[in-house]
Amino acid sequence: MNINTVDYELPSAFFKNHTVLLTGGTGCLGACLLFKLALQADTRRVYVLVRGSVEHAKLQWAASMAGHIDGILATGRVELLVGDVRKKHLGLDPGVLAELADAVTLVIHCAANISLMSSLHDTIRDNCLPTLALAELASGFKHLSRFVYVSTAYANMFLPGGPVEERIYETHDAERQLAAILETGSEPSMDVELEGFPTPYTFVKHLTERLLLLRHPRLAVLLFRPTFLGPAISQPFPYYARDGSAPVSKMMEKAIEFGIRSVAEIMPAHPGGGAHVLDEIPVDLAANLLLLHCMHGSTGPVHACAQSYVPRTIAQVVADGEPHTRQVRTRIQKQKYSARAGISTAVALRFYAIVTHVGRNDWHFSNAASRKFAEVGGPLGMKLHASHDPEKYFAERAMLMAEKVRANAGASRTSKL
Ligand SMILES: NC(=O)c1ccc[n+]([C@@H]2O[C@H](COP(=O)([O-])OP(=O)(O)OC[C@H]3O[C@@H](n4cnc5c(N)ncnc54)[C@H](OP(=O)(O)O)[C@@H]3O)[C@@H](O)[C@H]2O)c1
Repeated sequence: MNINTVDYELPSAFFKNHTVLLTGGTGCLGACLLFKLALQADTRRVYVLVRGSVEHAKLQWAASMAGHIDGILATGRVELLVGDVRKKHLGLDPGVLAELADAVTLVIHCAANISLMSSLHDTIRDNCLPTLALAELASGFKHLSRFVYVSTAYANMFLPGGPVEERIYETHDAERQLAAILETGSEPSMDVELEGFPTPYTFVKHLTERLLLLRHPRLAVLLFRPTFLGPAISQPFPYYARDGSAPVSKMMEKAIEFGIRSVAEIMPAHPGGGAHVLDEIPVDLAANLLLLHCMHGSTGPVHACAQSYVPRTIAQVVADGEPHTRQVRTRIQKQKYSARAGISTAVALRFYAIVTHVGRNDWHFSNAASRKFAEVGGPLGMKLHASHDPEKYFAERAMLMAEKVRANAGASRTSKL
């Protein structure tokens, strides 16, 4: 499929002319992008910023995509740079920075602390300030065509439900908000909760998007907003995901572990919320969309959401896990149902704060910017293979989560012997 003279089914024709600086390349989305950039798009060169050490990065890849990392590194087109997005100039030497300034044509910034439990101050330190500093650095790159900031569709969680468009929703003065947060040194005087954000993480994504555009009006910024990342359909391999970075899988794992069998147990206050979509996109489709938008030359906010795959409601996700919840009996389940109830359901429900928010607000994320790619085939294709059965994909994901819970329960029994 050819749109605007770019052959989307032949990504190598585009990426062979591009040198990418990728952050977060050991993460769930970043490693999938690295696989695609190196092995499917024949990118001229990929600099991957890894933190700690090369050995640490290799350990991460060994855990998430053991069978693929050697092939990626063997291309000779991937260079690992040890650094840290929180450090000045990424913690890189001036010589390396000069090389990047001369060579890099595309920055893909995936690195982030994705914890929903981090404080506002820590989230600003880990996610907002490094993004602004990287954009500043990239502004000096001589041949930069695009700066991709991986944000989240949940950056607009303050909206009261309904359509969420691929645009910036202005709230308070972003510069003043950042200054106020930095001034207090820890928690700000304003209450993030009151602004409708359930977590500092989503609030800070919203703030960072706006600051990026305000501070860098001449930079070609693509604000790439996935909803939840789900396990891969096929690349690097079926059900690939970094442990802990696929929230709906994690939710299912916890539902099985805690013995949750119905939506009512998760959201007693919002019984109708189960009918809302728990928006998720397989990570390889998200990676494809990001790269297709780079090829297209898109700027501004773009969603990667279930509309580009198959929307599934909270009730359906709970139902996927329910048969396993009945079969797998964990210590927590037994305690919960015993008269002595050591761990109450409330503990489990805290984990579902964000899902509860989804159950309260029926958001419909637009994928208008990506519809043009629906029929694109090839290595970055959005067109699903005729043999792909989404119901089977969801059922097998549930089975894998049940196996994980069983294995963890077995491991904790063994460690107590
Ligand atoms: N997961 C989701 O459902 C989801 C949904 C929407 C948007 N997003 C966004 O998508 C992006 C990628 O998320 P993900 O799920 O792939 O995250 P992830 O699996 O947790 O990976 C995070 C990556 O960032 C790196 N990193 C963290 N702090 C760093 C630092 N100070 N310096 C250098 N690298 C650092 C990590 O390195 P280590 O390997 O050393 O830890 C890892 O490579 C993030 O911006 C996230 O907010 C994620």
